[in-house]
Amino acid sequence: MREKLIQRYTPPERANHWVVAIAFVLLALSGLALFHPSLYWLSSLFGGGPWMRILHPFIGVVLALSFVALALRLWRFNRMSKDDEQWLCQIGDVMRNRDSKLPEAGRYNAGQKLLFYVMVACVALLLLSGIVIWRPWFAGAFPLVMVRLGAVIHALSAFVLIAGIIVHIYAAILTKGSIHAMVRGTVPQAWARKHHPAWYREMTEGSNR
Ligand code: HEM
Repeated sequence: MREKLIQRYTPPERANHWVVAIAFVLLALSGLALFHPSLYWLSSLFGGGPWMRILHPFIGVVLALSFVALALRLWRFNRMSKDDEQWLCQIGDVMRNRDSKLPEAGRYNAGQKLLFYVMVACVALLLLSGIVIWRPWFAGAFPLVMVRLGAVIHALSAFVLIAGIIVHIYAAILTKGSIHAMVRGTVPQAWARKHHPAWYREMTEGSNR
């Protein structure tokens, strides 16, 4: 018998997510090449230094706009509840896989929600600081001290976002079935019951009787 599937992402949600992901990878590679001479060789992926320098901020605008669209689509699923606070307080049980001791996760667990807000904060800081340091278009309009501060904020928020996305990808690979959700849009009922029991009940109420 075939496993029953539940829809987790619609095609527009998936397309939106993968535009964000592709833009992020291009930005991380070109950003690292701009950040340190030892990584400058990455610029050959973008047709050399000058092209990479021109493209990086424009890809940044693509990331920011597509991320805003994704965040607006998913905002309501990422609201923190009392159960989420409890889940975070029991992070020791999370690490030891003692799922039965934890409050039931809804569509996203508290860790995913926390990471969502880290992404929102980092993308906002990257966009704002990116505009301040964007030569030749906008940087000239700001005092030099702001441009320097902008460069520091840009590097720090990029560092936090890259670290956050490494955790995001690691968790996606570790939780077997997650990648399928973002590629095909569906998850098996058993996956939902195990990882997001409250969401599973919400989605199947009435249909499994
Ligand atoms: C680069 C490779 C990436 C991979 C392999 C990946 C993978 C995934 C997967 C499998 C999910 C589904 C998780 C679930 O439904 O439980 C997901 C959700 C999500 N991803 Fe990614 N992702 C990547 C990059 C990004 C980037 C760069 C961002 C944003 C800057 C991002 C933002 C999100 C958001 C907001 C969600 C929904 C989770 C939530 O709203 O809390 N992803 N991703």
